[in-house]
Amino acid sequence: MSPNRIRSGRTRRTVIAGIGAAAGLGFLDRPALAGREAGLASHAARTGRVFGTAVRSPDLTWNATVRNEVVREADLLVPEYEMKWDILGKSPGTYDFTGGDRLAAFAEQHRMGLRGHTLVWHLALPSWLPARLEADEAKRVLETHVAAVAAHYAGRVQSWDVVNEAVDPHGVDGFRDSLWRRALGTDYIPLAFAAAAKADPKARLYYNDYDLECDTPEQDLRRAKTLDILTRLRREGVPVHGLGIQAHLQAGRWPYDAGKFARFLKAVAALDLDILITEMDVSDRLLPAPEAERDAAVAALAGEVLATFLAEPRAAGVVTWGLSDRQTWLNDLPTHRRTDGLPQRALPLDRDGGRKPLWNAMARAFDAAAPQR
Ligand code: XIL
Repeated sequence: MSPNRIRSGRTRRTVIAGIGAAAGLGFLDRPALAGREAGLASHAARTGRVFGTAVRSPDLTWNATVRNEVVREADLLVPEYEMKWDILGKSPGTYDFTGGDRLAAFAEQHRMGLRGHTLVWHLALPSWLPARLEADEAKRVLETHVAAVAAHYAGRVQSWDVVNEAVDPHGVDGFRDSLWRRALGTDYIPLAFAAAAKADPKARLYYNDYDLECDTPEQDLRRAKTLDILTRLRREGVPVHGLGIQAHLQAGRWPYDAGKFARFLKAVAALDLDILITEMDVSDRLLPAPEAERDAAVAALAGEVLATFLAEPRAAGVVTWGLSDRQTWLNDLPTHRRTDGLPQRALPLDRDGGRKPLWNAMARAFDAAAPQR
C-alpha cells in the first residue's frame, strides 16, 4: 500500500491498549475502552483496510453513546452532511466550517482518518445559487467553491468525494441533468477534479455513485457509464484516484451476481484506482416485520456483496452510513421508510448499540478479505 493511500490515522491499535491509555484519549468515556480492540476497524485492519462511518458532529459532541460506539468501531469518519455546500455556504462568498472543523478535530483527537463529502453534487446546493447559470459564471462559482473547501481542509482530509452521482441511465448520454451539466456539459467533472487537486494536492480524489452492485439492466448501464467516465478521466490525465461505491443496498429488491460485480471491480482496479465502499446500509423496507428475519436477510446480502468486494485487492475499506439503527437516514424519507411504520434495521448496531447479524457478517467478510495491493 503506498503511503498516501487512504488509511487509518491511528498507529494501529497499539495506541489504545490498556486502561492507562485512557488519560490520553480526552473525553472518551472509560467503558468504551472495553471491546475497542475488537471493533470493525480492527477486523478491517488485519488486511490493511479501513472501516469508517458517517457521523454528525452534534452527536459526537453531545451523545456519549454514539461517541463511544464510533470510537470503538471505526477508524475513518465522514460527515453525513456537514461538508455539503448548503451547510458550508449559507450566503455567497462566505463559509462556515464549524461542523466540519469539529469533526476534523474529533478525528485528529482519536487518531482516525477523515473523508470529505462532497464537493460537487446536484443536491444540497445553497438556496442562493440560481437554478441556471451561464457557462462562465458556472465555471467560476464551481471552481471557487471547490478551491475554498478543499484548501480549508487540506492536510486534514485524506480523501474527497469530488463529484457525486453524475450518472443517470435515463439522462442524456447517461449523465444526470444538473445545474452543472446544463451550464458546462460533462466538462464540469474534469474541471472539479482539477480544482480539487490544485487546492489539496495530497488528498485522494474520488468519483462517488450508487446502484453499482446489483444485477439489473439499469445497474449494468450505471456500471458501464461509471467505467466510461473513469476511463476518460484517466486517459485525459485528470487527477482521479478512486471510485466510491455508495452501496445503499436493499434486501429483497434486486438479484445479485457476484461475477458481474467482481468484473466491474477488476475493470476499475485496472485503471489503477482505489475502490472504497462509501455509504453502506441495507434497507429492509421490502422485508416482513419480524426482526430476526429482517436481520438475517440484511446480513446475508451485505455478506455476499462484501465477500466479492473484499476479494478485490484494490478494495480499500468500507464506510457505513451511520453505525447504529438509531441514526439511519432511511427513516427520514417517505421513499425509504418502511410502510408499516417500523424503524429500519439497516446498520451494524441496533438501537441499543448491540451488535447485529450485519455486524457479524461484516467482521467475517473483513477476516476473509484478500491481501491488499
Ligand atoms: C443523505 C443524508 O444521510 C441525509 O441526512 C440528508 O438529508 C440527505 O443526504 N447519497 C449521498 C449522501 O451521497 O450524501 C446522502 O446522505 C445519501 C445518498
